Amino acid sequence: MKQYLVHPSTAATRVLTVAAIFGLAGSLGLAADKKLVVGFAQVGAESGWRTANTESIKSEAAKRGVDLRFSDAQQKEENQIKAIRSFIAQGVDVIAFSPVVETGFEPVLQEAKKAGIPVVLSDRAVKVSDDSLYKCFIGSDFIEEGRRAANAVVKLTGGKAGVAELVGTVGSAPAIDRAKGFREVIAKYPDIKIVTSQSGDFTRAKGKEVMEAFLKAPNAKEITVLYAHNDDMALGAIQAMEEAGIKPGQDIKIVSIDGVRGAFEAMKDGKLNVTVECNPLLGPQLFDLIEKVANKQEVPHRVVTQEGVYEQAQAAEELPKRQY
Ligand code: AHR
Repeated sequence: MKQYLVHPSTAATRVLTVAAIFGLAGSLGLAADKKLVVGFAQVGAESGWRTANTESIKSEAAKRGVDLRFSDAQQKEENQIKAIRSFIAQGVDVIAFSPVVETGFEPVLQEAKKAGIPVVLSDRAVKVSDDSLYKCFIGSDFIEEGRRAANAVVKLTGGKAGVAELVGTVGSAPAIDRAKGFREVIAKYPDIKIVTSQSGDFTRAKGKEVMEAFLKAPNAKEITVLYAHNDDMALGAIQAMEEAGIKPGQDIKIVSIDGVRGAFEAMKDGKLNVTVECNPLLGPQLFDLIEKVANKQEVPHRVVTQEGVYEQAQAAEELPKRQY
């Protein structure tokens, strides 16, 4: 069985290190100098969150001496499928990817399985009929993030609000789950109503554009809260509100998700009320899992990352500590 060099933090490495020290690697059949080759198909560069996520993955791969083949799908599923096919053709050791949307990946995952290449999902889930098509999925609980955002709205408004919702990329796991978790909680509050809802594709530019349209619609006066599925769209919406003479964070309360530095700056300025954290710094944990998978060790099928919720009052103190 092939073995790969792994990060010093893992137990497997200690075995390899001891084996190498005593010149046993060969006799154990370990190719200790074999570089691990990983193909990673990223969603794109749509948000500050994504930039931090990409940076975390690339820097961790470099730190561990992994040969990382990185591809940016520019938020298009077909590009991602092409990238995965190319990783299969290159015969990489492990494929990791963050699916743009939930559906449509089953055939290419079957191709990877047939080629004997294990797959690890990072950040976003896929919908497949056979869960063994991937070894492990590491990422946030997006439904819980939606619930946390809704609880923040309840706390901010006392349970009475007209919500405008800026939805993430249509068909993506975070957009589906953040909408679901939010609705689950507000269902208990008859005076909280979603008065308008549209996709801003997780980008700042689209967030601004859609917010401008919300503010021009006949029911604009009903909007008392903005729920944005990510901070970038909220930041774009803040611009739209200011240009329309509306005070963000006051006239319209804003709750969003991610916890990027820009959101903390906006909270410090009183323009955003709450950000629900979604941690993009997955690199170290992701490569721990990838190395285990490459070395045919057991991994949990689902790893959920731990996150918090931040309010305006915490922004000034938290801002200098933010890593992304
Ligand atoms: O999948 C995670 C989401 O994707 C982040 O919340 C968003 O900012 C990103 O684009």
